[in-house]
Amino acid sequence: MKSNDYVPELARIIDIKEEVEGSRSIKTFRTNFVNPNGFSHRCGQCAMLSVFGKGEAMISISSTPLIKDYLQFSILKTGRVTTALHEMNPGDIIGIRGPYGNGFPIDDWKGKNLIFIGGGIGLAPIWSVLQTALGKKEEFGNLTLYYGSRTSADLVFKEELEKLKSEMTVHLSIDVEEPDWKGYVGFVPANVTEKSPSPENAISITCGPPIMIKFVIKALQDVGFDDRQIYTTVENKMKCGIGKCGRCNIGHHYVCKDGPVYSWAELKDLPQEY
Ligand SMILES: Cc1cc2nc3c(=O)[nH]c(=O)nc-3n(C[C@H](O)[C@H](O)[C@H](O)COP(=O)(O)OP(=O)(O)OC[C@H]3O[C@@H](n4cnc5c(N)ncnc54)[C@H](O)[C@@H]3O)c2cc1C
Ligand code: FES
Repeated sequence: MKSNDYVPELARIIDIKEEVEGSRSIKTFRTNFVNPNGFSHRCGQCAMLSVFGKGEAMISISSTPLIKDYLQFSILKTGRVTTALHEMNPGDIIGIRGPYGNGFPIDDWKGKNLIFIGGGIGLAPIWSVLQTALGKKEEFGNLTLYYGSRTSADLVFKEELEKLKSEMTVHLSIDVEEPDWKGYVGFVPANVTEKSPSPENAISITCGPPIMIKFVIKALQDVGFDDRQIYTTVENKMKCGIGKCGRCNIGHHYVCKDGPVYSWAELKDLPQEY
C-alpha cells in the first residue's frame, strides 16, 4: 500500500500524436510506467497527470483496459498543466496517480445496443468504453457512434474513425458546411434527432461540452429513451481526486469518487452544480 496517496508514479511518454492543430490543439499521449506497478483501470476512469514544477490535471484514460502495453490520454491545451504537457516530447517523464472514479458499468450492458454520442474532446472518455465494447463485440448488440466537432480539422482520432466505419455505424458531423464534407452538417443533438436511434434494448453514452450533453439528452428523451438508459460524465474541477478536498462536489456527491460517470436518472435530481 502507498504511504501517501498524493505521490504520483513516474511514467515515460512513449508516443505523442497531434490530433488537432491551432488554438484548440489536442494531442494524444501514450505512456508507460517507469516501474510497472500493476496499475489497472476500468473504462471511464481518470488519472491525475503531473508535470513537475507546473501542477496536476485530471484527465480521462482514453485507452481500453484491454490494452496493457500503454496508458493513453488525449489532452486539449487549456492552461498551465495541459500547455506544459503539450510542450513535452517522447522520452520525457511525467507523474500519474490514480485510477480515479467509478467508470462505466459496461458489464451491466451485455446484450444491449450501445449508442456513443460525443462532441470535441468528449470522444476521449468515450473511446475507452467504445474500444472495450469493440474488443468484446460478441457480448453486445449493435454499436453506433455519433461524433461531431466545429470543423473537420477539430475531429480527434481521424484515422481511427475512418477504420471504425468498417466495424460499426459511424455518424460524423461538423457545425458548418465545408466543400468536401460528406457527413452531417449541424450540431450533434440535431444529428441524433435526424437519425432517431431506437431506444429498444439500448444504452446511450454521451460526453462533450455541457450544452451539447443537455440537448443530446433532450433528443434522446424525445425518441423515447428512459433516464436510466442515458449515461454521461461530469467534469467538475478536481484537486485531490480522492474525495478529501471538496473541490468537485455536487451536493453530497464527490464527483472524483462517486462519478464522473452518472446515469441521467442519478444526475437529474442532484443540484445543478456541474
Ligand atoms: C473527470 C475529468 C476528466 C477530464 N478528462 C479530460 C480529458 O480527457 N482531456 C482533456 O483535455 N481534459 C480533460 N479534463 C479537463 C482537464 O482536467 C482540465 O482542462 C485541466 O485540468 C486544465 O488544467 P490546466 O492546468 O492546463 O489549466 P488551468 O491553468 O488550471 O486552467 C485553464 C482554464 O481552464 C479552466 N478549467 C480548468 N479545469 C477545468 C474544468 N475541469 N472544467 C472547466 N474549466 C476548467 C480554468 O478555469 C481556466 O479558465 C477532465 C476533467 C475532469 C474533471
Ligand atoms: S477532487 Fe477533492 S474531493 Fe473530489
